[in-house]
Amino acid sequence: MTGIAPPPGAMPSDLAEELRDFHRRWATIRPPLRPDAGVAATVAALLDAVGARDDARPTLLLGVTPELAAVPRHLVAVDWSRAMVDAAWPGSAPQRHVVIGDWKRMPLAEASVAAAIGDGIVSMLSLPMEQPLLFAQLRRVIRPGGRIVLRCFATPDPCERVATVRDAAFAGGLDFHAFKQRFNMAISVADGLPNISSAHLFARFEALFPDRMALAQASGWSLATIAEFDAYRGSRYVHCYPSRDAVLALVPGWAQAPHFVETSGYPLAERCPLLVIDLP
Ligand SMILES: C[S@@+](CC[C@H](N)C(=O)[O-])C[C@H]1O[C@@H](n2cnc3c(N)ncnc32)[C@H](O)[C@@H]1O
Repeated sequence: MTGIAPPPGAMPSDLAEELRDFHRRWATIRPPLRPDAGVAATVAALLDAVGARDDARPTLLLGVTPELAAVPRHLVAVDWSRAMVDAAWPGSAPQRHVVIGDWKRMPLAEASVAAAIGDGIVSMLSLPMEQPLLFAQLRRVIRPGGRIVLRCFATPDPCERVATVRDAAFAGGLDFHAFKQRFNMAISVADGLPNISSAHLFARFEALFPDRMALAQASGWSLATIAEFDAYRGSRYVHCYPSRDAVLALVPGWAQAPHFVETSGYPLAERCPLLVIDLP
């Protein structure tokens, strides 16, 4: 399966499709790493507040997150990975279609969408140069007065120590996907790597938890669940987890009243607020 090739002048996140690992990890990821129906309902309400439901223009979905694709609005999704479209997109319908393309070079006309929504989008781009390209594209394709709603993965400031996360894993009773998010954030801060590769996370995981059987017994996670970390092995895919303040610092000056709306009802929701931005 091939996707669009990295163009000349490619940026750090512009890996060829075969070098990306998200589609290999996707089937196993759960909240907080993806949204649930409650988050989708909050997103829908935030869109309604700016009249997106009555707008003839579609709402732009960044990526193909199925929970957000189920938001009952006219949607156009943009994702650069055919493998992800094949794996996750619930299928096109009269009110819902998907376009293969890069968010940094959005294949949409000026003011052609009413709003934009997405999950974990800021974390999929490299700090600090790629997020401004996304926001510039959103400014271009969203109509004046439209809205952007993006669930973020925001590292607490100060962040807990790696040893705290390790101890929490060994204490048992911790949701594995919440652990993964805490681990990724703590390693990023401890190692001073705002953009952190999957390969680096895998190496740190292996060093910290050399005995998977012992980890399985103490944590209550099955060996198969722990093996989800293996998808990170050797991958150059880069993640980032800016704090809330660092996310707000990426928001361009034209944005009206940028703020966070909390989400709830799943592990680590307190680190996953919705960034809401209105266009002038
Ligand atoms: C929306 S994000 C995060 C997903 C979310 N946490 C979930 O699982 O639903 C994942 C998607 O972003 C897509 N993606 C990442 N960077 C992209 C870019 N620059 N342009 C278009 N799609 C991109 C990936 O192909 C993947 O399908």
